[in-house]
Amino acid sequence: MRIGFVGTGIITEAIVRGLLKAEFPVVEILVSPRSKPTATKLAALSPLVRIGEDNQDVVSGSDIVVLAVRPQIAEKVLRPLQFAPSTIVASLIAGVPIPTLLDWIGADVDISRAVPLPFVSDLNGVTAVYPGSDALTAIFAALGTVINCETIDEFDAFAVAGGLMGAYFGFSETCAQWLVSAGVPYGKARAYLAPFFHGLAGSAVRNPEKSFEDLRIGHTTVGGLNDQLFEQFRKDGGLQALTAALDAVGERLRQARREA
Ligand SMILES: NC(=O)c1ccc[n+]([C@@H]2O[C@H](COP(=O)([O-])OP(=O)(O)OC[C@H]3O[C@@H](n4cnc5c(N)ncnc54)[C@H](OP(=O)(O)O)[C@@H]3O)[C@@H](O)[C@H]2O)c1
Repeated sequence: MRIGFVGTGIITEAIVRGLLKAEFPVVEILVSPRSKPTATKLAALSPLVRIGEDNQDVVSGSDIVVLAVRPQIAEKVLRPLQFAPSTIVASLIAGVPIPTLLDWIGADVDISRAVPLPFVSDLNGVTAVYPGSDALTAIFAALGTVINCETIDEFDAFAVAGGLMGAYFGFSETCAQWLVSAGVPYGKARAYLAPFFHGLAGSAVRNPEKSFEDLRIGHTTVGGLNDQLFEQFRKDGGLQALTAALDAVGERLRQARREA
């Protein structure tokens, strides 16, 4: 199997590093040449990685083509390329529906969309895929967990949830800054919070039978500090603010689908 990447940016680097770490059975990984520093770095990691001469060389030389350019330039990048109809295409391009991609590609390729996250590089990823695809399931299962979606609404909902990465780090930074305001050096605050959140995430992963609400209750002493903090956060609209932000991003994706 030969896997090619059109767009050699952050997410391509994470996937390629993960594939090499996972020793995924590929004959060749082709990356587009435009982002030379990243492409050169990846090619130096393994003889399996080759920098294509141009985007067409990547597409022509690959059984599976991963589209990993930004949405704003995707049409300009894709329209001139020639795809063989047997190509399997994985589009990571946020918010661009499959009918639009097929129009830009101009061939009846086997296409799915996927939302991998940067921690695929550590084989800890969780990747939503739609429509389900055996080839993409094999690739992303090697890099962590795969969630095959039954409907586009389900896929878009996971795309919204993927946007929680920024909120998570923003939340963590707010906690760190509060500790700083209480007199704790930033380094110590960070050294406490990173394993703190990692430990909580580990509990959730190790106990799949428990809902998050079960875990919250399990980590709470009634009337204790945890309980007070959560109730105050809830009372002051913290949870509603999060739900409203998720709704707003969901609406942006629905709007993009209506306009496609
Ligand atoms: N980052 C994530 O966690 C993530 C997760 C899931 C999906 N995605 C999606 O994946 C796509 C890429 O995201 P990213 O974060 O990897 O962005 P990125 O780091 O900006 O990577 C995009 C790459 O495309 C290159 N590029 C620009 N014009 C090109 C062309 N004509 N031909 C080939 N390559 C070209 C850019 O090069 P220059 O820098 O030289 O312009 C850049 O290296 C986006 O659609 C994004 O929505 C990202």
